[in-house]
Amino acid sequence: MISDVTGDSGKDGRDEASPLPGLRWPIKRSFVNYVRSLADGQGSATHGASVSDSMEFTYEIDPDFSSINEWRFRGDVRFAGHAGLLFVRIADPGIRVLGDEGVAELTVVDPYGSDTRLKLVTLRVLAQDGPGDTEAWVGSDVRLCADGVELFNDVYQPGEQFDSLEFLLGRRRQTP
Ligand code: HEM
Repeated sequence: MISDVTGDSGKDGRDEASPLPGLRWPIKRSFVNYVRSLADGQGSATHGASVSDSMEFTYEIDPDFSSINEWRFRGDVRFAGHAGLLFVRIADPGIRVLGDEGVAELTVVDPYGSDTRLKLVTLRVLAQDGPGDTEAWVGSDVRLCADGVELFNDVYQPGEQFDSLEFLLGRRRQTP
């Protein structure tokens, strides 16, 4: 299913005051606005991904994945435009803690179809107080990796700032 996330349709209509569990990430607002400005710009959020009225994408938690230092989410967000020249897919993101001080990397399914995951951005994750008995994290200082440069047609260079993200997990657990 392709739902148009560049116009008024395809929104999940959720109440943004009560966030769903999962990863919430606007990705990069200037890029999304750029695609929305194209005459033929299109977007979709499917297979576990949805988009809010404020153009924030949510990926659901992947219940089949378990690791002490990585969280995986499910969903397929795609952008297209320029008569097919522009195609950006950001699917099934995973956030892996690499070491001390919350240094982490976010990988996605390879947009070009190989079996290896693409290292898209680095970030710093920090645990927050989540609502009720939930575990919440914030990811800041989100920066493009060298491996992700080609996906954006070499327009952004390594270190380009992407939007901060948040993820809400179902229940508390030990800090990795
Ligand atoms: C027909 C081919 C293309 C043309 C004529 C074109 C044109 C442009 C123009 C004029 C801008 C500046 C927009 C602005 O500042 O408002 C821009 C920005 C950009 N383009 Fe393209 N583009 C093309 C193809 C692509 C492709 C294939 C990609 C792949 C993802 C891409 C990714 C970007 C990105 C990431 C930006 C920067 C958006 C931002 O953060 O401000 N473009 N392009």
